[in-house]
Amino acid sequence: MSFDTIIRGGTVVTAADTFACDVGIRDGKIAALGRDLGTATTIIDATDRLVLPGGIDSHVHFAQPSGDGIVMADGFASGTRSAAFGGNTTVLPFCLQEKGQTLREALKHYHSLAEGECHVDVAFHLIVTDPTEHVLGQELPALVEDGYTSLKVFMTYEGLALSDRELLETMSVARETGAMLMVHAENFDAIRFLTDRLERAGNTAPRFHATSRPIPVEREATHRAISLSELVDVPIMIVHVSNREAMDEIRRAQQRGLRVMGETCPQYLMLTEKDLDQLNMEGAKYVCSPPPRDLASQQACWEGLQQKVFSVFSSDHCPFRYDDPQGKLAPKGRTSFRWVPNGIPGVATRLPILFSEGVVKGRIDLNSFVAFSATNHAKIYGLYPRKGTIAVGSDADIALWDPKRKVTIRHELIHDGSDYTPYEGLEVTGWPVLTMVRGKVVVDDGTLVGSKEHGTYLPRSKPPGAATIP
Ligand code: URP
Ligand code: ZN
Ligand code: ZN
Ligand code: ZN
Repeated sequence: MSFDTIIRGGTVVTAADTFACDVGIRDGKIAALGRDLGTATTIIDATDRLVLPGGIDSHVHFAQPSGDGIVMADGFASGTRSAAFGGNTTVLPFCLQEKGQTLREALKHYHSLAEGECHVDVAFHLIVTDPTEHVLGQELPALVEDGYTSLKVFMTYEGLALSDRELLETMSVARETGAMLMVHAENFDAIRFLTDRLERAGNTAPRFHATSRPIPVEREATHRAISLSELVDVPIMIVHVSNREAMDEIRRAQQRGLRVMGETCPQYLMLTEKDLDQLNMEGAKYVCSPPPRDLASQQACWEGLQQKVFSVFSSDHCPFRYDDPQGKLAPKGRTSFRWVPNGIPGVATRLPILFSEGVVKGRIDLNSFVAFSATNHAKIYGLYPRKGTIAVGSDADIALWDPKRKVTIRHELIHDGSDYTPYEGLEVTGWPVLTMVRGKVVVDDGTLVGSKEHGTYLPRSKPPGAATIP
């Protein structure tokens, strides 16, 4: 047998198994697994390396507008480049419907931004902000059939938040069409009330961002989202869960047999609200929603992973430059936390953080690492088994991992469009040393060797439904 590439001598890890095995790759697909596979044009030596399915990050934001002329730090080229440096081979950014826009118009726009600009493969979630009869009755059902099989709804943010009635109408369509529904669960009115009160008292520094949306704001909305989804009997994914109380709402729903899934992110394992409390506005670097909480909340999020209350670990990469008049410190952002754009970068640091803090420190096992970082994303969002595993017939999307390498995270290693990483100086053990997308090496030992024409758009199947949801 002859192959384009053989990855030889490594330890293959999937969500289920760990085994010593070579990987034969032909025409961008995994063509054989075994020993003594034959000849190949290229041999990659994987001695002392883990051969992992490339990371799938099902929650990233690229090129989204943020109001007030604030510009997101990553478009598709730099965002997918940074993803590749972090061992990712597929990302799922959002296509934001702006008010008055049809979903097709929004998609046309995001496709035009992504076309020829992607280092790794991409698929879009739709963000529904204007659920008109046309959008819900005509567009969404057709788009789900066309392979846009997931959408996100917001319970907060000016211009994005849906009313409970709109949530129910949108959930009903997700139920009818079989789309996966992601929910940003925070109580909009509570945030506005607390923000106004803080500002009246002169409390405008970045750290008051956390005070403006404390845990009950998230817990209440999580409970409400679950209750609404129960009314229409639709599976939902509660994204970016930050604390025990919200996690327990999800756990209780699962124990009652509801198809409620959860996602957590690196910021909720690694940061606290103290990071928001720094001199000279530096706290703005950590402004995201929900905000990082405290050490007990970090522990709760680990338990949520260990006990599989959460099924996915995503970055929620949403980068704004810090030292930039169009980023975190845009003029209005200096006047109040209210105007600091929400979101932090993290697409490149997600996998090293989960590996180092999770696997190396003995909190989760290697197979769970693969499940949380790749396999479950593919299963839940309709990409499995083309993506998310190492199996004959799957795309040859591989992160070759050095489990022993010690790296101090520095922004120079991230290769995104932002000007900082929230994890500067963090020491991690384990690092992706090669990233391969459909058989082609895109990052080799810290050097970009792929091109931004290689990444492709992925139409998706419908999520598999209740029985097989991890
Ligand atoms: O602060 C955050 N998380 N910004 C990104 C947008 C979102 O809500 O996911
Ligand atoms: Zn446009
Ligand atoms: Zn969100
Ligand atoms: Zn997000």
